[in-house]
Amino acid sequence: MTIELLRFTTAGSVDDGKSTLIGRMLYDTKSLFEDQIKSVEKTSKDRGDEYVDLALFTDGLRAEREQKITIDVAYRYFATPKRKFIIADTPGHIQYTRNMVTGASSAELAIIMIDARKGVLTQSRRHGFIASLLQIPHVVVAVNKMDLVDYDEATYRGIVEEFRTFASKLDVPSITYIPMSALAGDNVVFKSGKMPWFDGSPLLHHLETVNVGAARNLVDFRYPVQYVLRPNQNFRGYAGQVASGRISPGEEVVAFPSGLTSKVKAVVTMDGELNEAVSGDSVVLTLEDEIDISRGDMIVRQGNLPRKDNRIDATICWMDETPFDPKANYQLMHNTRLVRAIVTKLNYKIDVDTMKREETNNLALNEIGRVQLTTTQPLFFDTYNKNRHTGSFILIDMATNNTVAAGMIRGASREVDDLVEVTQENAEIRRQRTENVVWEAGALSLEERESLNGHEAAVLWFTGLSGSGKSTVAKILERKLFEMNAQTMFLDGDNLRHGLNGDLGFSAEDRAENIRRVSEVASLGFAHGNIVLASFISPYNRDRNYARGIVPEGKFIEIYAKCDIEILKERDPKGLYARALSGEIKNFTGISAPYEEPEDPEMVIETGSGTPEALADQIIQMLISKGIIED
Ligand code: ADX
Repeated sequence: MTIELLRFTTAGSVDDGKSTLIGRMLYDTKSLFEDQIKSVEKTSKDRGDEYVDLALFTDGLRAEREQKITIDVAYRYFATPKRKFIIADTPGHIQYTRNMVTGASSAELAIIMIDARKGVLTQSRRHGFIASLLQIPHVVVAVNKMDLVDYDEATYRGIVEEFRTFASKLDVPSITYIPMSALAGDNVVFKSGKMPWFDGSPLLHHLETVNVGAARNLVDFRYPVQYVLRPNQNFRGYAGQVASGRISPGEEVVAFPSGLTSKVKAVVTMDGELNEAVSGDSVVLTLEDEIDISRGDMIVRQGNLPRKDNRIDATICWMDETPFDPKANYQLMHNTRLVRAIVTKLNYKIDVDTMKREETNNLALNEIGRVQLTTTQPLFFDTYNKNRHTGSFILIDMATNNTVAAGMIRGASREVDDLVEVTQENAEIRRQRTENVVWEAGALSLEERESLNGHEAAVLWFTGLSGSGKSTVAKILERKLFEMNAQTMFLDGDNLRHGLNGDLGFSAEDRAENIRRVSEVASLGFAHGNIVLASFISPYNRDRNYARGIVPEGKFIEIYAKCDIEILKERDPKGLYARALSGEIKNFTGISAPYEEPEDPEMVIETGSGTPEALADQIIQMLISKGIIED
């Protein structure tokens, strides 16, 4: 049986006795090397200390560490017969919030140190709040320095009461309170005889028995690629750490951003191949196929995909002396992927004392705020509450290279605009959101163009199922208009998807974006005096209304090419229905994706019965009757 592992972090400044506490645990569990103990005992004695200065173990060792003497093993890991422990803590005394955020993202337990003489401080509340923000499953409130308050029960109870009242507003599932003296060794490893009124266990016992692993995500396989290993022509492997989930040879995987698929060939480690790698394992994966994967890519299982977006809603904790600058460009490091980011909106900051939201336009050191970010390339992420690894990131200042913030992803960023139904009334307003651009008036007015052309400009919007004949009718119509000397512009779904919209697929979001772009192009064509013929399935009312909304009233003519789907399946000019029916094409309109019939189109053409010629003529008549063209 493998011994369980507990990764924990300590929150508190040196003054609270954090280093002493860690030193005490290492000392009393005999996790230090003989020579380290000797040297610390000697230093303490030389200084005339009453106690062995246990902080020297951590601080002293840290000094050695900073001199690059590797004693990492003794410093960060220790074990008892029951459990192994990793102190996920970063050196440094001042930046407690930063330490906690960086150390805690993988921690399962946080020890919040409170000095019994000082009681619950803003800092203690901040630590509690961050623990809840980071969703650390277990919190221990260590009421330290009890020796300096004569081991007084009432002092301890007062602190517990105060913290408890505050913590009731937080989302921390389990909090354990322990009175202790790290310096004197009370209730750290051994139960203290000086506080008989405390019936709980000492800290180490709690650490040995607290339930671990429950918070680990073993379901969603996420593998951020750290390095591509190519020692020779015959071997290509992807080194990294399994951020969550598990994976075995033979499983089908997909790599992002490329979307290329393959199967896991082997899970390789220094000690040979494994049947399975789980969350936290550092391994090398090899795949059956030679696909192009680079550092920063993410490998996941085909049936369990992350979310993708370049607009992110997040909570960030500011960790730099220089306050957040809304205009600055930052780099965002998400697992092993580095992208550029801007903070498009700072919604509010949180006052940790009152837990209230406050409006603000900056964030100072240690402040926590809710932001909306836009990245230059999409992130493949999970929300933080689902996955602490793929749901977190850091922001790096591009000028100084400092890590300036740690963030937790709440989801894709959505603006009110994304959710409201677009109507003619609000479409104009929506478009004016882009800041700092002014509309450049054209040299020629629409009236001038129309008078030269001898007809009015308009947008004829053909909507209908794939293969319904929209484009066929539109093309014949265009020729007829041409022969009448009209200026026209033809926009077609298939064609635009080769260029302008070549990056879009057929999800509802992509179709919305497709139609948004097309609408803008149609509106430009309109502004230049054309009769624009736009032929798109445009299956959603909302998207068509957007198009309608940006063209002056009366100039947008929606033409519904109506045809029974059974006829279309039979006709199937491009063979797409057959492929959609067999499941080969996904999200196919009418088969596996919806088509919302127009609610109030200007015209319906029955493409199942009339000939395209006759239908085009009907449209000409309609345009004449509306005064757009003259007979
Ligand atoms: S729209 O729904 O976003 O308006 P658009 O008109 O641009 O679609 O493109 C539709 C054309 O794309 C169809 O005529 C067909 O040739 C092709 N196509 C490919 N996949 C699909 C699909 N899943 N659903 C509909 N059309 C598809």
